[in-house]
Amino acid sequence: MNVKSMTTNIAASVNAFAAIVLLFAAPINFNIMLNKKIESALNEQIALEHESSQYYLSMASWAEVKGYHGITKFLYLQSDEERAHMLKLFHYINERGGHALVPDAKIPPKSFQTIQEIFEQVLKHEIKVSGEINELVDMCQKEKDYTTNNFLQWYVAEQIDEERTARNILDKLALIGSDKGGLYLFDNELGAMPGKK
Ligand SMILES: [Fe+2]
Ligand SMILES: [Fe+2]
Repeated sequence: MNVKSMTTNIAASVNAFAAIVLLFAAPINFNIMLNKKIESALNEQIALEHESSQYYLSMASWAEVKGYHGITKFLYLQSDEERAHMLKLFHYINERGGHALVPDAKIPPKSFQTIQEIFEQVLKHEIKVSGEINELVDMCQKEKDYTTNNFLQWYVAEQIDEERTARNILDKLALIGSDKGGLYLFDNELGAMPGKK
């Protein structure tokens, strides 16, 4: 073997070694990427969770101005939880090779008539969100995206919980009726409820 062919062999070995190093060093995403239809539907869900967060925030602010300290605390916590739901979707979409998008801000109502009205709107809104989550799950099954289907099961369980909480609160408010002492106790009770996050 002459010097030239030796040099060529060494160069080839170095190149092969470099290729192997690069292969293992490169971040390889073995996950199947989100399809565009699912990505767009998840981005719509981001907008809905954002809307929920803003809605609760507006309710919290109204209750705070009216002096319902416990209800205020509960509603601020709910607003934070909805933001956490939104962020969970951000991370999921981006980790699956999609692009999570900041939604346009929809302005929520600024004032409310009664505490009863607030929780009627809460229940109505949560039922709407549950419906949207169910539609998403249905889409994932049709598109055979079982990973996203699995991810969404957390939201399915969360919605059952949120609807139940809103119904329980409305039941209590119906019992209280126009009794101001009852409403005072209810306000304290709601303020003592721990957040989930
Ligand atoms: Fe939510
Ligand atoms: Fe919710």
